[in-house]
Amino acid sequence: MSNVTVIGSQWGDEGKGKIVDWLSEKADVIARFQGGHNAGHTLVVNQVTYKLKLLPSGIVRKNKISIIGNGVVIDPWALLDEIKQLEKLGIKITEKNLYIAENATLILPMHKELDGIREDTKNTDKIGTTRRGIGPAYEDKVGRRAIRVMDLANKNNLSKRLDMMLFHHNSIRKSLGKSKINKKRLINDLAKISSKILKYSTPVWKKIEEFKNKKKTILFEGAQGLLLDVDHGTYPFVTSSNTVAGSASTGTGCGPNTINYILGIVKAYTTRVGEGPFPTELKNEIGNKIGRKGKEFGTVTNRKRRCGWFDAVLVKQSCIISGISGIALTKIDVLDQFKDLYICVGYKLNGKRVNYLPSALSDQFKVKPIYKRFDGWLENTQGIKKWKDLPVKAKKYVNFIRDYCGVKVSSISTSPKREDTILLENPFKKN
Ligand code: IMP
Repeated sequence: MSNVTVIGSQWGDEGKGKIVDWLSEKADVIARFQGGHNAGHTLVVNQVTYKLKLLPSGIVRKNKISIIGNGVVIDPWALLDEIKQLEKLGIKITEKNLYIAENATLILPMHKELDGIREDTKNTDKIGTTRRGIGPAYEDKVGRRAIRVMDLANKNNLSKRLDMMLFHHNSIRKSLGKSKINKKRLINDLAKISSKILKYSTPVWKKIEEFKNKKKTILFEGAQGLLLDVDHGTYPFVTSSNTVAGSASTGTGCGPNTINYILGIVKAYTTRVGEGPFPTELKNEIGNKIGRKGKEFGTVTNRKRRCGWFDAVLVKQSCIISGISGIALTKIDVLDQFKDLYICVGYKLNGKRVNYLPSALSDQFKVKPIYKRFDGWLENTQGIKKWKDLPVKAKKYVNFIRDYCGVKVSSISTSPKREDTILLENPFKKN
């Protein structure tokens, strides 16, 4: 069996939940490596619905180890709340089935507040963040002033670390006309929850090494999508972490050679939440119809997602940057009732054709999609489980994506139900 990394290959919300759930049933260990509680997905296991934001998908299954890696930013109060909600549903979460990296960065209330202030200001472009404090927490991490999980273990050390952090935050707050952070209260608030977090804390990189030596199968669970990557996405309209597959290694502390298969989740059309460039966006009734059929509303913020045609240029770019081994194509059934379908196969920029999304934001807003038209299949694909049963026109659509991106399609999802999947290749089996 091999270790698998799953990532979103568009702007997030590709339907990772269902695929990750299927994979986590087969894995022994499930590790999150980036992002925080800005991610969100719903799992339905044995008729019970679980809403996860920060915890890895394996947490709802018995005899699985869940890991929150050092690349994740953790709001300790949000984490404890999520644990409580799951415990109410009968899930047992202990230091035996949850490990949290001792060197993971904490999201503190000031991060959330700053995220909100920036989103509300009229002076800069709004990013459309989830307002969870993700960006400000990552800024403190790379600014070398963050509070990390293990800092909670020592009050003196915590106090010193906070001085560094508050020096920075209070100067920003002063310029914004906000009151200084009450350090004593913050230390007291953290003291109340420290032991509840610290009990899960461990050097995660060592644990992963142990699991590798025991030949356990590890699933690395990505959040968001490649086009929200802070380096490779539509910067600055991105999240603040690296969402590319390579991040699984840095975000948990295992060598890149730990991972044998990279599964890119790809939705059969394109969506994005929040602001930013979106070349194939359909601001018309077709876009609304895709949104209605695909139930395109955010899990975390309940915002309506922007919808558009499949952008093969972007997905190919994702496949290359993340080294995707196979595509899990999701939500193909949403396209059942469209007479014409379009796939973007290039862009026009300043009168020239380009075959990738340039990095300059101004160009990303300017590119005009070049489309290839496909006949819609106008047949019900919902619930299909075998490739041979897919309408010929749907097969043509899927095969085009495969050929254009140069990556095989490992599965096709034909409804939100787990069993409604056409499985063409098992990522865990050494191929
Ligand atoms: P942040 O991650 O809250 O800082 O938000 C930055 C951008 O990433 C915004 O456009 C968000 O809408 C987007 N984003 C963050 N998390 C997700 C997700 O899980 N799915 C889709 N978009 C997300």
